Amino acid sequence: MLHVISEVKLPLMEKNLRRLMLDPNLIPPHKQTLLANIAAQSASMQMPCYLVGGFARDLLLQKPVNDLDVIVEGNAIQLGDELVRKYGGKLTAHQKFFTAIWHLPSDTSDTSDTLDLITARVESYKQAGALPTVKPAAIEDDIARRDFTINAMAICLDAEHFGDLIDLLGGQNDLAQGLIRVLHPRSFVDDPTRIFRAVRYEQRYGFTIEPDTLELIDQEAIEALSKLSGERIRHEFDLIFEEDNAAAMLFRLKELGILDVFNLPEFNGDYASLLNSKPPDEFDISADRVLLGYLLWLMDTSKDLIHSLSRRFDFTLELTAGLLSIIQLKKDLPLFKDAKPSAWTFLLERHPFISIYVLWLVTNESALKDFLVKWQYIKANITGDDLKLRNIPTGPRYKEILSKLRAAWLDGEVKNENEEQELLITLL
Ligand code: CTP
Repeated sequence: MLHVISEVKLPLMEKNLRRLMLDPNLIPPHKQTLLANIAAQSASMQMPCYLVGGFARDLLLQKPVNDLDVIVEGNAIQLGDELVRKYGGKLTAHQKFFTAIWHLPSDTSDTSDTLDLITARVESYKQAGALPTVKPAAIEDDIARRDFTINAMAICLDAEHFGDLIDLLGGQNDLAQGLIRVLHPRSFVDDPTRIFRAVRYEQRYGFTIEPDTLELIDQEAIEALSKLSGERIRHEFDLIFEEDNAAAMLFRLKELGILDVFNLPEFNGDYASLLNSKPPDEFDISADRVLLGYLLWLMDTSKDLIHSLSRRFDFTLELTAGLLSIIQLKKDLPLFKDAKPSAWTFLLERHPFISIYVLWLVTNESALKDFLVKWQYIKANITGDDLKLRNIPTGPRYKEILSKLRAAWLDGEVKNENEEQELLITLL
């Protein structure tokens, strides 16, 4: 298991986090202004307002915070409407969940950011693993519905209590000790995605799943997990591949028996360092790290398995095609060992570039790189229009001739336009 505890600053045992809230290295100034505006507006509407979850956790760890998880005791949609009236932007309201997404005006954010405004609420689960039904409630109740103590803290935003930490469940203590602890024994059964979350936090921060919590990842929880929709489970793997320690997370899921439940293979440790690799500029491809992660993970399986995983987990078309391609290419590789550049090119151009790139990462086969950086761009000078000018009747012969000309360029049999013209005459 990979431990990264040294990267994490241990939390300050402070009850007021005003100092951290005003630290521009942790919260950029434009976000601080945004929070001040939200606090002023919610105060004027008599709605106590808090920052919760990952925000409180990461602030205590003195890590820069990205997401502002804002919770209000009151109607978050009304608050959002007022904020839009005053500061601009747009609101998307979800009446059923009492939440709103504020699409921030461009002058309050550096990118086209959004901010979630959430009404403090209680949740009840009609059945294990189902999405919960929600009712507005006090912040204490909202905290009690959360996954782990380290995520169950809130920080007051109201002027008088600005920066006060609400820690009713020992979150700060668990953070200091690096423990991931659920709030109640049914937590994983109610929401089995929390198994993935526990593993993510454990490996991200080099923490430990507290022993009683670990025991709760039992048969019942795993059964509840296996009933979740494929899309929800795939989303959890997507989140893993966004992380720097994705390989360690997959190893841990294997250890806990979670991969076996879904007939998923273990992650090949030899590929771990490749997960964080970026394609060199000369490749001119943008390798989405989630796609890269799945390709590395599943490339050594079979097409049959990919078809069944794709159905079970609702893989995107891009992912399914990328996986089927890399499996096929891996099989083809030995057959093409001494092939000419043209043969490689005609093979590879039928496959997604990401699959070729990942196969190159793993095998270091130089033809794969040559195709991506050079060969794919080499075309014949002579075009279909030139053939028409020579009164060659249109039809499949065009493709045949142009392919032969391209192959000659690729294989160095033609080096200039004269030689190409000469070759053309022999082909007519
Ligand atoms: N939460 C929960 N149970 C879940 C998902 C989320 O209790 N299954 C709560 C936690 O309190 C969490 C908060 O909702 O802190 C926000 O969730 P999310 O944005 O998914 O996580 P973050 O805490 O922001 O952590 P991360 O850094 O992984 O995004």
